Amino acid sequence: MAIHTPLLRLLPLLLMLLPSPLRDYLSPARHELGGHGQLEARHPIIIFPGFSCSNLEARLTDDYTPSLPHCGALKGKGWFPLSTNPWDLVDHDYIPCFEEQMSLVYDPVLNDYRNRPGVETRVPNFGSAYGFSIKIDGATEYCFIKLNKKLEVLGYRDGDTLFGAPYDIRHAPPLPGQPSEVYSDYFGRVKDLVQHASEKNGNKRVILVGHSFGGMIAQEFVNSTTQEWRNKFIKHMVLIAPTPPTGLTEVVTNLASGPTVIILPKVTAIALRPMWRTFASSILSMPSPWVFGDKPLIITKHRNYTAYDYSDFLTALGFSNGLMPFMKRVLPKMKRIDAPMVPTTYLSGIGVQTPEQEVYMDGNFDVAPEHVYGDGDGSINLVSMLAFANELHRQHLESNIYFNFIKIEHATHSGIIVSDDSLKIVIAEIVRANW
Ligand SMILES: *[C@@H]1O[C@H](CO)[C@@H](O)[C@H](O)[C@H]1NC(C)=O
Ligand SMILES: *[C@@H]1O[C@H](CO)[C@@H](O)[C@H](O)[C@H]1NC(C)=O
Repeated sequence: MAIHTPLLRLLPLLLMLLPSPLRDYLSPARHELGGHGQLEARHPIIIFPGFSCSNLEARLTDDYTPSLPHCGALKGKGWFPLSTNPWDLVDHDYIPCFEEQMSLVYDPVLNDYRNRPGVETRVPNFGSAYGFSIKIDGATEYCFIKLNKKLEVLGYRDGDTLFGAPYDIRHAPPLPGQPSEVYSDYFGRVKDLVQHASEKNGNKRVILVGHSFGGMIAQEFVNSTTQEWRNKFIKHMVLIAPTPPTGLTEVVTNLASGPTVIILPKVTAIALRPMWRTFASSILSMPSPWVFGDKPLIITKHRNYTAYDYSDFLTALGFSNGLMPFMKRVLPKMKRIDAPMVPTTYLSGIGVQTPEQEVYMDGNFDVAPEHVYGDGDGSINLVSMLAFANELHRQHLESNIYFNFIKIEHATHSGIIVSDDSLKIVIAEIVRANW
């Protein structure tokens, strides 16, 4: 929506007629965001959604041997949604099949993960800012839906100026030089999408906006490109509560007692645990010893585990299979933080009770632990977020590249892009990233 200059005199009056979000950005108090041309000089945006948002489709070939006969019902029938509609899985008694078909296999020779034999997978709707969805009944504002609507009020359009880069949640970005078939393909597609978005918009540079795991992916993507490419195509990164490479306690809990980030009706976290542990993403973002030090993260009657004790801990969990990929693919990552080296805004909630230590008094990991809380955004521990942000700041400062860390009191990890108060700040920063 363009406001022509003669109309500017009428602006105060017109503002009262505008829908409130736009009014907020154009109102005199925020005149720095407003004005004619500002919205027209819009840079395309690519959204990297949070962990629970991306969908996966599967195709079963002749090589697939189902462990239960009805899991083979869709064999040879083409692509079908594997994770889009949780109730569908329940209604068709498909949960055990879902777990089997979602599971990955770690290949120690290739040092990479692949699907089980006869299972092919793909992430649908790549490119669309609505190409993913929350799987919880009634949570219709999550997964950027509400944020996208606000961007549309500012003139953004899906497929035109607004895009999305959903990913396969089971995989994890590799270290430089390490294989990941899935990520090689994904990063190639994101690169094409960035170039497409830029070309479609008069070669304007692109703003990458990532939430949570998606923030981490956006950052890893940028790091996989050359500085020359970044300078040419990336205008700004907006990282919203990104998963820090320095880790979070929640990851340990998910590994021990099953994922709280995959929510299926009538299914417990424990029931999803065997599947979860096959994912490359399950061992990513373990709390880093360089930040969490020798504070016990897991407390049991007979033995505590710190971030230095993961090999003992994985063994105690009965998950020694996780040791090799952890040592090869994850541990070296914990020691390094590579700043995006493009202008970056980092927003995060603080002042929310966040599990910091997990108490399994009886040493039984099959029950949900008792939490000892610290500060953070409800998921990400403050100590980790600060270590990450400080390091990004330091690296950017050294190269004189813009970096801004914005703490939002009481914004929760997923609420930060849903609740009106924090969303207003997030949108203002996305508008600012257009300058
Ligand atoms: C990130 O970029 C830096 C500088 O180009 C490079 O040294 C490093 O290997 C990259 N890291 C990753 C994870 O790709
Ligand atoms: C484990 O850590 C807790 C809390 O720091 C401490 O009170 C307890 O004595 C430790 N237990 C063992 C077995 O070291």
